[in-house]
Amino acid sequence: MCGIVGVITAEGGVGDVLSKALKRLEYRGYDSVGVATVNENKLYIKKDKGKIDEVNERLNLTDVPGRTGIGHTRWATHGVPSKRNSHPHGDCKNRLAVVHNGIIENYSELKERLTRNGHIFLSDTDTEVIPHLIEEKLNSGLTGFHAVLEAVKELKGSYAIAVLIADHPDKIYVARNESPLVIGVKNKNYVFCASDIPAFLPITNQVIFLYDGEVAELSLEGVVIRNLNGEVVEREVLEVDLTPEMAKKGGFPHFMLKEIFEQPKALKNTLRIDERKLIEVCKILSESNRIVFTSAGTSFYAGLCGKYFLANISRTGSEAVISSEFDEIMKNIIDERTTVVAISQSGETSDTISAAKYAKRFGAKIISISNTVGSSLTRLADATVYTQAGPEIGVAATKTFLVQLGALSLISSKLAEFKGVITRDEYKTLLNDLNTIPEIIQLILDKTEGEVKASTEAYYNSTSILYLGRGISSAVAMEGALKLKEISYIHAEGYAAGESKHGPIALISTGFPVVFVAPMDSTHNKIIGNIMEMKSRGARIISVIEEGDEEIKSISDTVFRVPKTSDNFFKQIVYIVPLQLFAYYIAVRKGLDPDKPRNLAKAVTVA
Ligand code: AGP
Repeated sequence: MCGIVGVITAEGGVGDVLSKALKRLEYRGYDSVGVATVNENKLYIKKDKGKIDEVNERLNLTDVPGRTGIGHTRWATHGVPSKRNSHPHGDCKNRLAVVHNGIIENYSELKERLTRNGHIFLSDTDTEVIPHLIEEKLNSGLTGFHAVLEAVKELKGSYAIAVLIADHPDKIYVARNESPLVIGVKNKNYVFCASDIPAFLPITNQVIFLYDGEVAELSLEGVVIRNLNGEVVEREVLEVDLTPEMAKKGGFPHFMLKEIFEQPKALKNTLRIDERKLIEVCKILSESNRIVFTSAGTSFYAGLCGKYFLANISRTGSEAVISSEFDEIMKNIIDERTTVVAISQSGETSDTISAAKYAKRFGAKIISISNTVGSSLTRLADATVYTQAGPEIGVAATKTFLVQLGALSLISSKLAEFKGVITRDEYKTLLNDLNTIPEIIQLILDKTEGEVKASTEAYYNSTSILYLGRGISSAVAMEGALKLKEISYIHAEGYAAGESKHGPIALISTGFPVVFVAPMDSTHNKIIGNIMEMKSRGARIISVIEEGDEEIKSISDTVFRVPKTSDNFFKQIVYIVPLQLFAYYIAVRKGLDPDKPRNLAKAVTVA
């Protein structure tokens, strides 16, 4: 997730307006920043790696000429944070500049074609294909707007772009598909475009929303919106009633809830991982005689899920080891044929980095799965699979956990094909199943949030809650328990349901709440037995069930329903969503701030 912004001002000082607008979007990404302006048909670009204040200090971003400019604050998705990879990106003749938020799925083939046509690329980003595409359209004789329109038609994936063309110094061209982009207007003095309203809210709350598949031409004379067929679209100006703080949270009360609701898009973007990257990872995994997942906290529970995915889908054995225990467990058995899959959304967790360094000393290969491009762990790895959740501001991991499961599902499916366990067609079927999950999550968010919120009245005063599941749902249960304890400070424990009678059942007394993750999969019948064991001892039963599961509904005190999904390997992924909401609303009911839980840091960078 990045932040893009553009402004045309009748009042001058475009550099100051741009840098302030970018500062308000810094929560969307902050590893590099850049601006471009056009003045007397000449482009001026300043950009570098670093936070906005740092780069401003070095380059004085506010000191740029002209009245028309665009800017970008980056959260890297392709290409490590660096000056050459920072936006804006230009064409071969420095006639145009582009800033982009999103993922261009077909950038490799576009880049190959453009390179064959003589275009010179300066960065490793997917974004850079856009200015060169527009350049080709301009060279073919199309005017500014139509050159952008025709170029955008060739893009696949998600994008929100703002384009400056030197020959049109009083215009900005924008387009969007899946990535957000809003336009702000203030009589004839300002016209803005931005990823999010906070960028220009202090100047105007008059907003025009651009929809997917639309392109617009902005000038102080007005905004002209067209669809991809070139037909003009009329769109009203709306007045938004948000404070800047609320706007940063997208109107949600907390970043955590906003990020729970970002999961469909985060997963959809993550499932766009380049197949060549998956093949690179599968080569390493298939040459290993031992595969070890290692990670901490929520990422460890993702690693546990990875163990089930690898076994169930690709018939590959593996183990999951908490990174702080890695050396004690692996010291006498790790060697050059071991592959360690280190999972870390921040890529900066000290324990996980130490585990990876320890493994490298024995010649092991390292595959990292991270949400942060260029992070320390990724620089240690032989190969990295990046998740695409964008920055996660809430300390409690939500969308970054879900996209880790998405990446692990993809890797396991690809490995199954790579090993010949499944055919190419079966692999494509798995991909189709996976690609239905974002919309299932959206359905859960739309349909379940209300019932989860209402249920918290009965449970927010609990002193302890047990979370149980079987198979991969046991790992989902553990993550659900972690969510609750870290933001509501209620003790919670996630356990394999089959283990409950080997001890935890002693905890149960009348009214003790027990959460069951109970999908209609191979564990369903056994989980019913576990529920009855608890119920017969007076427990209050909270079950996350599949829509229509009347059997478990009839023996539960509270149910959170998940839409029926096709019988596939991935259905359990979505069962974490009601548990995220459950933890969130209990914390809020207790008057706590879910975004900033006590004693916790977003990245534990000390051992
Ligand atoms: C998750 O909610 C916690 N904030 C914490 O357990 C976290 O998952 C853990 O510190 C690992 O972080 P990482 O994914 O950045 O390595």
